[in-house]
Amino acid sequence: MAEKRSFTDASVKGRRVLVRVDFNVPQRPDGSVADDRRIVEALPTLKHLEAAGAKTVLLSHLGRPDGKRDPKYTLRPVVHRLSALLGQPVPLADDIVGIHAIEGVTRLQNGGFLMLENLRFHPGEEANDPAFAAQLARLGDVFVEEAFGTLHRAHASTVGVPHRLPAYAGFLVQKEVRALSPLVHGAERPYAALLGGAKVADKLPLLASFLGRVDSLLLGGAIAFPFLAADGAQLGATQVEPGLGEAVAEFRTAALAAGTDLVVPTDLVFERTEGAEGEVGPANLLPDTARAYDIGPATRARFGEVLRGSKTVFWNGPLGFAEDPRFAAGTREVLAGLASVPGFHVCAGGDSARVAEALGVVGAFQYVSTGGGAALEFVQGTELPGLAAIPDA
Ligand code: 3PG
Repeated sequence: MAEKRSFTDASVKGRRVLVRVDFNVPQRPDGSVADDRRIVEALPTLKHLEAAGAKTVLLSHLGRPDGKRDPKYTLRPVVHRLSALLGQPVPLADDIVGIHAIEGVTRLQNGGFLMLENLRFHPGEEANDPAFAAQLARLGDVFVEEAFGTLHRAHASTVGVPHRLPAYAGFLVQKEVRALSPLVHGAERPYAALLGGAKVADKLPLLASFLGRVDSLLLGGAIAFPFLAADGAQLGATQVEPGLGEAVAEFRTAALAAGTDLVVPTDLVFERTEGAEGEVGPANLLPDTARAYDIGPATRARFGEVLRGSKTVFWNGPLGFAEDPRFAAGTREVLAGLASVPGFHVCAGGDSARVAEALGVVGAFQYVSTGGGAALEFVQGTELPGLAAIPDA
């Protein structure tokens, strides 16, 4: 993948620099930032702009407020954390392209920062509305793309604005592209993708592009259930995403044709009644009231075997409901085993990184990406619209 034009080539002193960051961070119930990795990872770019005397205007989304203002998704807790990390107060404009934003930008001093409110409070963001993109672009002289985690979205801030201003990549985007590029072409084989989490319908098309690229595709978490159900497994009261039988069957045929070994669980950990102790059962036949939430010991051993024989591993999504200690062992043991395997292991996504950290197994990875969906699409060779909008170096 070609290098992108770096913002260090732009003249920024005294100029208004719009920086698209991905501060879509996990929050605690009181709204405070639960994991600041995405903010911390953007600091080198922000500090560079500060030292260079730029007037930096930060753009981000948070959650999915669907084009409406919703106090639950305000960026206020994010600017609070950011201000502490930067060591200078970062004001938050109460709107995005309105009077508060315009006045805030006018007041900016060289080396100062302003954050605009959640871009997704405006319907024009996700619609990539040209009028909204033009209004945003009028707030800056230069655009810096630093939101690696959002590059797979063709939104006003990721595509519309960079088409209207001189556009550059920030340090984080450059770092992610460099680190993940070896996985696109020329990953050392054997190459395994270890995938968990939910939202199978969303993920199936993404998984399909792994076929042929990887030698083994290991499925845990809720995404494995439709595969088991399609094989006739009786999963009791386990929640299985419905209507995917045909897609799963097609997927299996495609995997076979591509020579990718599809590995699904052979045993599962379930609860018989809500809150009951976890029990292990065969993945083809669970009791009627069972709800499965993790892979069982035989599956962990099989996954471990495949991973020990792999030189490249890509992981996204917990293999069970890891927040609950009863269902964390699958993810913890498989990743702990990976830690002693030499090779290049990539963890993709803030949620996955947080789970790995909470389980004390983040050391299994040589690289932790700030992108979830974006990293998944990137390593499959898909052109990310936000990256395509930045000229090559
Ligand atoms: C992410 O967390 O993957 C990015 O911030 C994109 O968020 P989205 O899936 O809501 O577009």
